[in-house]
Amino acid sequence: MNIDKIKNKLQNYNQEHVLKWWEQLSDIQRKELLQDIESIDFKLMKKLVNQYMERKETLILFDSIKSPEIIKIPRTKDEILHQREARKIGEQCIRDGKVACFVVAGGQGTRLGFDGPKGAYPIGPISANSIFQFHAEKILKAQQKYNVQLMWYIMMSKPLHEQTISFFEHNKYFGMHKDQVRFFSQRMLPAIDKDGRFLMSSKYEISKSPDGHGGALFALRDSGAIDEMVKKGIEYISYFQIDNLIVNVLDPVFIGYHVKASAQMSNKVTSKIAPSEKVGAVVIMDRRYAVIEYSDLPEEHMSDKDKDGSLKFNAGSIAIHMLNTGFVKTLTEKVVKLPYHIAEKNISYVNDSGGHVSPKDKNGIKFETFIFDALKFAKNVTNMEVIREDEFSPIKSLTGIDSVESGRQLYINRCARWLMKAGVDIPFDENGNAKIKIEISPLFANSADDLQHKDLSSIDTTKNIYLA
Ligand code: UD1
Repeated sequence: MNIDKIKNKLQNYNQEHVLKWWEQLSDIQRKELLQDIESIDFKLMKKLVNQYMERKETLILFDSIKSPEIIKIPRTKDEILHQREARKIGEQCIRDGKVACFVVAGGQGTRLGFDGPKGAYPIGPISANSIFQFHAEKILKAQQKYNVQLMWYIMMSKPLHEQTISFFEHNKYFGMHKDQVRFFSQRMLPAIDKDGRFLMSSKYEISKSPDGHGGALFALRDSGAIDEMVKKGIEYISYFQIDNLIVNVLDPVFIGYHVKASAQMSNKVTSKIAPSEKVGAVVIMDRRYAVIEYSDLPEEHMSDKDKDGSLKFNAGSIAIHMLNTGFVKTLTEKVVKLPYHIAEKNISYVNDSGGHVSPKDKNGIKFETFIFDALKFAKNVTNMEVIREDEFSPIKSLTGIDSVESGRQLYINRCARWLMKAGVDIPFDENGNAKIKIEISPLFANSADDLQHKDLSSIDTTKNIYLA
């Protein structure tokens, strides 16, 4: 396309400012900018700009919302039997190679004060092993247990693509075979200012951000991953977020319940710590399952109750799902449109005089789709309750709530509980935290049960414990 045509196109979409510095740019910079422009879906962006400019308060009919049906943590004999049955089904699926792991890792480590993919963060309390390594070792352990080779699909955002792959290369894929790990990137969308104009991150770059984890649907299709899964006979996708250190990446019980219910998508849930906790809530809305994101739940509704007196928004979504490969394939073939959510953020940009600005207030708008919005298209959905301390340690920032600090402690405490179960007497402080640092490589043990057969008699509980 020649430059006049591009100018015209930009004018038609009210984005002509993108070429403001054209005359000053080098040939390479011009080429980069043109490529950038050509990669943009202008029709979609026009819709999104309009969505933002004409935005109305999202009308959620809170009174008609109901709390979901949940498979509770088993307490009765019958419940325990059901769980056993589910486990058997799930284990058989894993053994038969019908399940693949899928992690969304598009987030940057910026909030962790870390320059690189979040998955590369050195989280191990003693080893400083990365989050990626922890997850890789869990998959390797499952391979040993079920005597099968498992696939791991990793979705990143474009700016992290090269870095993520070279991190894996550098670490020799943590012992996995290169051909069982697939990397692919999600789409990037321009960020806009409050007048609907694309923000420029430099004189020749349009500011872009990943299209949210709902973008996984397109990314799975466009990368060929979903077709590969079908070819390999993979029927179920075990979906998780990179930032949950203690996630059970392949849970036979969850898989079993999902399969037993002929579900197309399933959720793991845990009771919220408080009505204001920053997790989405699984609910029934318009007779369909849905997640109400914490940012969409107004304070006055946080403690709403069902007819039976239970809290409506108590089923915290810990962002762990089972998805059927066939379901994902159908969604992407039908080009099902997940809604775009608007997020106002502080986004650095180049102003009209060419100066770089790092705004103190929210100046920019990003658009994201969420994977859990696919729930309403699923024929059947299962929700399984889990013990929070065993499966959920989100790492969103460096310190405080849901941080590296708290995530590591939750991990150490879980190691401590596993060791206690195996007969090792771990010292705890008055807050219930282990007094020493403990790290157990998932290759050594990935559950309390795995520790039962180990000789732990030489462990000295006055020192830090590292089992690998
Ligand atoms: C998310 C969930 C929330 C859930 C909580 C549990 C959303 C919108 N909300 O909140 O319902 O209770 O986690 O911890 O997700 N990611 C991508 N690409 C993107 C955006 C995100 O891969 O374009 C990945 C991130 O790497 C991260 C995950 O998705 O692993 C979650 O994203 P984040 O923005 O941290 O969501 P939260 O607000 O923490």
